[in-house]
Amino acid sequence: MITKKKNKGIHKQAKLLNTILENIPLLIMLINEDLTVQQINKFPSSLLQKKPVKVIGIPTGEVLNCLNALSDPNGCGFSKLCRKCKLRKTILETFKTKKDHNNKESEFTLLNAGKKNSFYILFSTTFINFLTRPMVLLSLQDITKRKKAETILKQSKKEIEDLVSFKSKELLETQKVLDKSKRLSELGTLASTVAHELRNPLCVIQTASYNIRRKCRTNDLTKHLDNIDIKVTESNEIIENILSYAKIKSPRLQVINLNSLIEESLIFAENRFSGNAISITKKIESTKDLSISADKLQLGEIFSNLIENAFQATSGKKQPKLTITTARTNDSRFIATFKDNGCGIDCKNIEQIFEPFFSLKSKGTGLGLTICRELINLHNGDISISSIKNKGTIVTVSLPISPGRLS
Ligand SMILES: Nc1ncnc2c1ncn2[C@@H]1O[C@H](COP(=O)(O)OP(=O)(O)OP(=O)(O)O)[C@@H](O)[C@H]1O
Ligand SMILES: [Mg+2]
Repeated sequence: MITKKKNKGIHKQAKLLNTILENIPLLIMLINEDLTVQQINKFPSSLLQKKPVKVIGIPTGEVLNCLNALSDPNGCGFSKLCRKCKLRKTILETFKTKKDHNNKESEFTLLNAGKKNSFYILFSTTFINFLTRPMVLLSLQDITKRKKAETILKQSKKEIEDLVSFKSKELLETQKVLDKSKRLSELGTLASTVAHELRNPLCVIQTASYNIRRKCRTNDLTKHLDNIDIKVTESNEIIENILSYAKIKSPRLQVINLNSLIEESLIFAENRFSGNAISITKKIESTKDLSISADKLQLGEIFSNLIENAFQATSGKKQPKLTITTARTNDSRFIATFKDNGCGIDCKNIEQIFEPFFSLKSKGTGLGLTICRELINLHNGDISISSIKNKGTIVTVSLPISPGRLS
């Protein structure tokens, strides 16, 4: 028999349990076997758009305003997508196996404040037998914000990883370039020391040849002595090349007329290679009076080296040709191209031609283009080469008309 006192106690207990249920910060539903809602707590949840009293007896999907449930005229559980619904499957599984399922995640599109919104939901199911009536206790939590933050974090982590790997690669490349320039600078120092030391013995050989020539004037000997003199002159030229590479200085700017300078360099090359029947075309009209601010000696050396390379590349050709074009660009730069129809450069060598001491010529020092690039860089300019083996080569030099402050 239930006494009045006992009844009061039971009533108090029920009130306490109800207060706990209403204040748990989760959306909690008791689900019937037909998947309709038997009971729901009143704790406000972003997942519930309807008033709690109005959802009793309604299927779960419709309670949540699930778009799949709303899009089918028969409601929750009838659309094709409902068959794949993780929440539905888990509730049915809980009824079948009587086993709980904890902290499952699923994505839903819910109609929220009249708009379709994607939600991430964390849910758990517990089987309960209430007065021999099987029911599932479903708890739901909106984890959309957390999920979005996780996605942003994952993306940022990936971006940072990519950036770190990119920067590491860049650093490695810079390290390689540094190592290379250190090696080259050591090589340059060594080469210039050796070149310097060779000057004295060469001078002695030259004097000895001169003395022998004076003392014994036989035809036989003259031929050999001429040979010695030629080789001494060639050796001196190589030494000069190496030493000039080691001695590159900051440009001393002065106003120069480019066309006259190119003309001078051409005459110099024609004298040096007098046997070369090269046909030269100059297209310099557009820059007739063009003056630029540059180091005259250095610019002269650049043009001479390029013209010399063209002369050497075309020697032995049937109709050797060199076309020199100069033009001024809209962004105040001076462009000169040197196009020859010589032997061209094999694509496997094109990367190396600017490297010091790279030469495919029997008497080349391999410093001509290295010096050109160094000097052009000092003038804040650019040099590029395109070439086709056995067809010819085009060298393009671009220089600022007023280079401003030079390093
Ligand atoms: N116009 C060109 N046509 C074909 N090959 C060229 C041309 N210019 C340069 N090269 C190639 O590039 C190499 C390097 O040229 P670079 O001027 O630096 O040295 P070099 O001419 O061999 O020697 P140096 O100029 O020091 O006497 C040459 O040996 C040659 O193989
Ligand atoms: Mg050269």
